[in-house]
Amino acid sequence: MTFDSFSLNKNDNYMDDEDAIDSAIIKKNKELQMLADKALNMIIDNTDINPENGDSLQKKNILDKALEAINEILDTDKTHLSLLEKQKAAYFVVDEIFGYGPITKLLNDPTVSEIMVNGSENVYVEKSGKIEKTEITFRDDQHVMNTIEKIITPLGRRVDESSPMVDARLPDGSRVNIIIPPLAIKGPTITIRKFAADPFTLEDLISFGTLNHDMSTFLRACVRGKINIVVSGGTGSGKTTLLNVISSFIPHNERIITIEDAAELQLRQKHVVTLESRPANIEGKGKINIRDLVVNSLRMRPDRIIVGEVRSAEALDMLQAMNTGHDGSITTVHANSTRDTLSRLETMVLMSEMELPSKAIREQISSAIHLIVQVARFLDGTRKIINISEITGMEGDTITMQDIFVYKQEGFNERGQVIGRHIPTGIVPAFINNIKARGEVLPASIFKVPMHEQFGRL
Ligand SMILES: Nc1ncnc2c1ncn2[C@@H]1O[C@H](COP(=O)(O)OP(=O)(O)O)[C@@H](O)[C@H]1O
Ligand SMILES: [Mg+2]
Repeated sequence: MTFDSFSLNKNDNYMDDEDAIDSAIIKKNKELQMLADKALNMIIDNTDINPENGDSLQKKNILDKALEAINEILDTDKTHLSLLEKQKAAYFVVDEIFGYGPITKLLNDPTVSEIMVNGSENVYVEKSGKIEKTEITFRDDQHVMNTIEKIITPLGRRVDESSPMVDARLPDGSRVNIIIPPLAIKGPTITIRKFAADPFTLEDLISFGTLNHDMSTFLRACVRGKINIVVSGGTGSGKTTLLNVISSFIPHNERIITIEDAAELQLRQKHVVTLESRPANIEGKGKINIRDLVVNSLRMRPDRIIVGEVRSAEALDMLQAMNTGHDGSITTVHANSTRDTLSRLETMVLMSEMELPSKAIREQISSAIHLIVQVARFLDGTRKIINISEITGMEGDTITMQDIFVYKQEGFNERGQVIGRHIPTGIVPAFINNIKARGEVLPASIFKVPMHEQFGRL
């Protein structure tokens, strides 16, 4: 026995059952994909196919032809497959012609919200907030590359060694990111955040426990009262979704300008201008970034500027806009806590290459931003607001904040679901009078700590 095979066997022993089943199915699926490829090559030459017009009759026709070809191949190879397996391979052929190869099924599945392809054998999805591995496999990395081409070529984009990253939007609004070797070491990588045709509403988020009624009443008054808000959280924590929901509180008569890298927001209001940044073209020219769009939006007489996510120097322009009368602006920041949000913003302002001392930057931040809404993704896949915090000013060199609402987690129930509740801290925000001055009514009771939460339970 060679050393290699010895170590392989040893590894096999360490695999738990689930992994073993998983890799067996993947191996099988890979074989079927190879078979499908052979069948595809056989029928492609002598069939009139119009992939644009994938009506069910044409699909049925291809399915029949693929099955025929598969039977022929198996006969020649003297291999046997079950009918189910043959059908599976034939469907792979259909998906190859009319769809996006192996991930077609996932793209069509409304319960899948995210698709992640890490090389040819590791395809993950997010379903109901949870990430799970699928049995889907590509033949090899070249097959993943072909699928990538299929996705981005119609969008007028390309990917190769000289430009190995692409961020784009599919015709249905889904966002796709591609990164290939040599940058992605384990193989071509596809990440698709599917467009929610029917985005979550405030009622949905309340029913999911993302926030409670009092918090939504508070946020509504803040938005209508033109408080500047930053929604912060990690990747996939629900920032954009929450931004979309709280933007729905903006009155219909206001002029809203949204600025995003890939348009995701779906506002119901009519008076909305949607701007999207643009990557450089093939000659490396024509790049328009978020910052350019923020600067331009100031000349468009906006009542509200909504930036999908600030990641870089645009933070400075956004802060300046907020500080010069463009109140009621909302954005999101990738950060793990409310405190982290402040330091990230500071770092982003530094990227603008304006030589500002850090105290001056912090002063800008503390006067521009009134409220931070921190969201988090919990182990059970739920997303919750974990803090709504008011920025109160500066003490020396430090920005001061106080929580208005917090989420108090108590543990997990027997089904692994998070248990806990949202509670007010008892603090009434200092900006309450500004909101009231704009005609918003907020009952004092929503800030009151409920009786049973008092006496040290906070
Ligand atoms: N409050 C929520 N409850 C449950 N699922 C959510 C919630 N908010 C977002 N999601 C889901 O989580 C995924 C990521 O949401 P998104 O708002 O795009 O996150 P982010 O902008 O933080 O990356 C989406 O699939 C979305 O449907
Ligand atoms: Mg987002």
